[in-house]
Amino acid sequence: MQTKSRVLVFTEYGGPETQTIIERPVPAPGPGEIAIEVKAAGVNPVDWKDRSGRLGTQRPLPAAMGREASGVVTAVGDGVTDFAVSDEVLGRVAASHGTFAEHTLLDAAKTVLKPEEISFADAATLPVAGATAYDVTHQIELEPGQTMLILGAGGGVGLMAAQIGKVHQFTVIGVASNAKQQLVESTGATFVASAEGAADRVRAIAPEGVDLVIDLVGGQALRDIAVVAKDPTTIITAADPATAQQLGGAAVKRTEEGLEKITGVAQYGLVDPHVTERFSLDSAHDAIAAVETGHVAGKVIVEP
Ligand SMILES: NC(=O)c1ccc[n+]([C@@H]2O[C@H](COP(=O)([O-])OP(=O)(O)OC[C@H]3O[C@@H](n4cnc5c(N)ncnc54)[C@H](OP(=O)(O)O)[C@@H]3O)[C@@H](O)[C@H]2O)c1
Repeated sequence: MQTKSRVLVFTEYGGPETQTIIERPVPAPGPGEIAIEVKAAGVNPVDWKDRSGRLGTQRPLPAAMGREASGVVTAVGDGVTDFAVSDEVLGRVAASHGTFAEHTLLDAAKTVLKPEEISFADAATLPVAGATAYDVTHQIELEPGQTMLILGAGGGVGLMAAQIGKVHQFTVIGVASNAKQQLVESTGATFVASAEGAADRVRAIAPEGVDLVIDLVGGQALRDIAVVAKDPTTIITAADPATAQQLGGAAVKRTEEGLEKITGVAQYGLVDPHVTERFSLDSAHDAIAAVETGHVAGKVIVEP
C-alpha cells in the first residue's frame, strides 16, 4: 500500500516561484472527512489569490493548493455514513489538504457521489466553479424571457452560468473578449465584446436594460457595465464584493444545495463545464499560470 503521496504546495506567500511539489504521508481522514485517490482537480482563481496573500489568510506553511476534486474513496472518517470505500465522488477539499495531489481529503458535507454520466474531468469542476455558477444564477429569481447578463462569460463560472440561464429560458447576454465569441455563443448566449463600449453594445440589444448582472470580473469592467442594470440591487458578484456593494449590488451567497443541484444539471447533460486545458501534476504550475492570466477559456484541470 502506498504510504507517501505528492502534492503541490506554496512554501511562502508570494508569486509562482513559491510553488513546489513535495511528498507527504497519504493523509488519513478525520471525523467528517473522506480520503480519496485524486482523479482530477479543477483550477480556480482562488488558488493563486490565496498563494499571493491577497486573501489575508495565514495558513501554516507549506500550504497545499487546490480546492475542488473528483476521485475514488480510499477511506472514510468517523461519522461519515454517506460514502464508502471505492465510491466515485466529487467535492471540496477538507481543511488545507489541497487537491493538486495524488491523494487528499474531502469534506464529506461538501461532497456528492459522482454520477457515472459525468467524467472525472468534468466532475472536478463542479464543487467550486459549478456550484458558484448555480448559486449566482439563483440568488435573484428571474422569469423565463427575462435578461441575464454575464460579465466574464467565457471563463469557468461564466460558461456554466450561461448554460444554466438557457436551461431556465432566460435571455442570456455574455460579455467576453473576441477570442471567446464562438465559445460563448455555443451556450446559446448572445455575445457582446468586452472591449471599450461594451455597455453601449448591450444597450443596442437590450434598450430597457437587463434584469440581472452576474459579475465575474469586478473593478472598472463592472463599473462600466453596471449602468445597464435596470435595478442596481440585481448586480450579483463572485469577483468583487466591494465594488458591487458600492454600486448597490451584493456578493454571491454560497448555498449548501448548489453542489447537488449543479451535479444533477450536469448529469442530464444540460451543462458542459468546457474543460479546455488538462495538465499533469508535474505541470500544475502551468495550469495555475494559465488561470492566473485572468483570461482563461472554460475550465483548466490537473490530473495526477
Ligand atoms: N465567491 C466565490 O465563492 C467564488 C467562487 C468561484 C469564483 N469566484 C471568483 O469569480 C471570478 C470568476 O471566476 P472564474 O473561475 O470564472 O474565473 P476564470 O475562469 O479565470 O474566468 C474569468 C473570465 O473573465 C474574463 N475577463 C477578464 N477580464 C474581463 C473583462 N474586462 N470583461 C469581460 N470578461 C473579462 C476572462 O477572459 P476574457 O477577458 O478573454 O474574456 C475569463 O474568461 C474570479 O474572481 C473568482 O475568484 C468566486
